Amino acid sequence: MTLQELEQGQAASLAEIAAAQDAATIEQLRVKYVGRNGSIPALIKGMKDVPKEERPAFGKAVQAWKAAVEEALAGKSAAPAAGASSTLDATLPGRWFEPGVEHPLSRVIEETARIFGHLGFTVADGPDIENRFNNFTALNTPPHHPSQDRRDTFWLETPAFKGEKGTPEDLLLRTQTSPVQIRTMMANKPPVRVICPGRTYRRDTTDATHSANFHQIEGLYCDTKPVSLADLKSVLAYFAKEMMGDSVTVRFRPHFFPFTEPSVEVDFSCHVCKGKGCNVCKQSGWIEVAGAGMVDPRVFKFVGWDPETVSGYAFGFGVERIAMIKYGIPDIRWLYENDVRFLNQLA
Ligand code: PHE
Repeated sequence: MTLQELEQGQAASLAEIAAAQDAATIEQLRVKYVGRNGSIPALIKGMKDVPKEERPAFGKAVQAWKAAVEEALAGKSAAPAAGASSTLDATLPGRWFEPGVEHPLSRVIEETARIFGHLGFTVADGPDIENRFNNFTALNTPPHHPSQDRRDTFWLETPAFKGEKGTPEDLLLRTQTSPVQIRTMMANKPPVRVICPGRTYRRDTTDATHSANFHQIEGLYCDTKPVSLADLKSVLAYFAKEMMGDSVTVRFRPHFFPFTEPSVEVDFSCHVCKGKGCNVCKQSGWIEVAGAGMVDPRVFKFVGWDPETVSGYAFGFGVERIAMIKYGIPDIRWLYENDVRFLNQLA
């Protein structure tokens, strides 16, 4: 084949490719020209019979042809001309991609981590399956306390599970995120400053405001410098404003928890009526959101810290509760049904 014939062959092949109407024809042309037994590979194989002095120019021309054919084929399959290819029907409706939205519970957790992150808190984690020591004993909750009852707590039927040190221990689904406090204190030295979001479990009958499986976020700050109830109030006030809006204030009411002394219940002023009284706050102007208090010295003893030199506060609130008041969700069950019509409204 002369160089001129090569040029003609190239032009003819490109014209054929340009005229191809469907994917099958394009594939046939690919096989014909650049397939394993195609005409261009045959030319390359036949190079040895070309006179030596013509070989470089010949080789160059064949390679150029091959490149031109490949480019033309690639252009064809990437962007078939309108109406030219049977693989594309431009009249069909497009495929709809349903974009997901972040779940309200995830949003509250992330937002909380961000807000407390500004105050130097990091996020700590613990397992859903806990032992009696972390969930109750070290939190100063004695065996006769009603929360340890089988009717309140999901105990696991594992009579002689071997604990980390080889001793049998009682296992349960944690009833609160407070055991992560114990884990954090046992694994660290003061100061510690953590929040611990996670799932919690109680034998509650499901209704509009209760679920047997819900979420809490625990907070813990302990230091060898004196820590006071006023410090607790100031961080919760900051949190309230960041989470619910600038107008929201906090109030403490005396309460009891086995692991804090003194203990308080924490209310946010109603972000909807600004404290005047409405349906959301049941006309009281306040919404109960958290339990909190100063860490009981007995808890420090249980984790091996010296109550004489360490002080701290802890708080815990329900993630569902915050999500429900923040987004105006009247029924806790809506948070678990994964109905996209509901979730999309909160996007
Ligand atoms: N763990 C408590 C509860 O579930 C809340 C709490 C946490 C109270 C930390 C005080 C301190 O009710």
